[in-house]
Amino acid sequence: MESNIRRISNFLNKINQNKSTNENISKNITPVEELTPTQKNHYREMLDSFFKILDEEKIERLEDLVKIKPKHKGYVDVTFVCYLVTKFVKPNFMVETGVARGFSTYATLSAMEKNRKGKLFSIDYPTTYQDVGWLPRGKFDENWVLIIGKSKDKLPELLDKLGQIDCFLHDSEHHYKNMMFEFKQAWKHLRKGGVIICDEPTNAFYDFIKEVKPSSSFTIPSRIPEGIIIK
Ligand SMILES: C[S@@+](CC[C@H](N)C(=O)[O-])C[C@H]1O[C@@H](n2cnc3c(N)ncnc32)[C@H](O)[C@@H]1O
Repeated sequence: MESNIRRISNFLNKINQNKSTNENISKNITPVEELTPTQKNHYREMLDSFFKILDEEKIERLEDLVKIKPKHKGYVDVTFVCYLVTKFVKPNFMVETGVARGFSTYATLSAMEKNRKGKLFSIDYPTTYQDVGWLPRGKFDENWVLIIGKSKDKLPELLDKLGQIDCFLHDSEHHYKNMMFEFKQAWKHLRKGGVIICDEPTNAFYDFIKEVKPSSSFTIPSRIPEGIIIK
């Protein structure tokens, strides 16, 4: 089991090893447009086997995510956090900003499929990735809506249409102003007990927590940490 986890984590880390800046991504990672359908399926199969391993984790409360962290290192973090949070919360509606190839999207939609409920609304303003969301596309189209545009333009309208949401993932532009804007928007529409996931929490994450005083909040330490806020 442990070696399986390591094999899959290594695989995902390898393809994401240069994630830290958009510049690095465009220089060092094979442009997604060049992947063949077989290669794309290989990514999906790897993720599916990763989720099977995660299905064995016992999560009684979201804070337990901190305990299982040491097994899964690297960029796989946002993927496994989205998968486990979605399985735990069983959202009707979830909104995410920042799709790129769609690891978080694929993870969320996989968990929704297991939950037999849920719709995911994703917003991305393509910068590096032209083929935004290729991982989930074709497999999970029924429960997924992709909106192209900047979160500052698209998020308020989407949230107004949805009314209430159960989960929100911030993984777009990690600048203070943008993060604060997204958190505040999401918070207005997040139900009590709903969850915000924040990839790479920075000052905005901690300032927002001070401001809204949620019922719980914590970070999962890792090379790229994940922040969790529970309303
Ligand atoms: C770190 S990647 C997202 C990774 C993705 N969540 C995953 O798990 O594969 C960030 C994405 O945010 C998008 N983005 C950047 N600024 C944005 C903005 N203002 N609004 C919406 N999307 C934005 C970029 O185009 C990029 O695809």
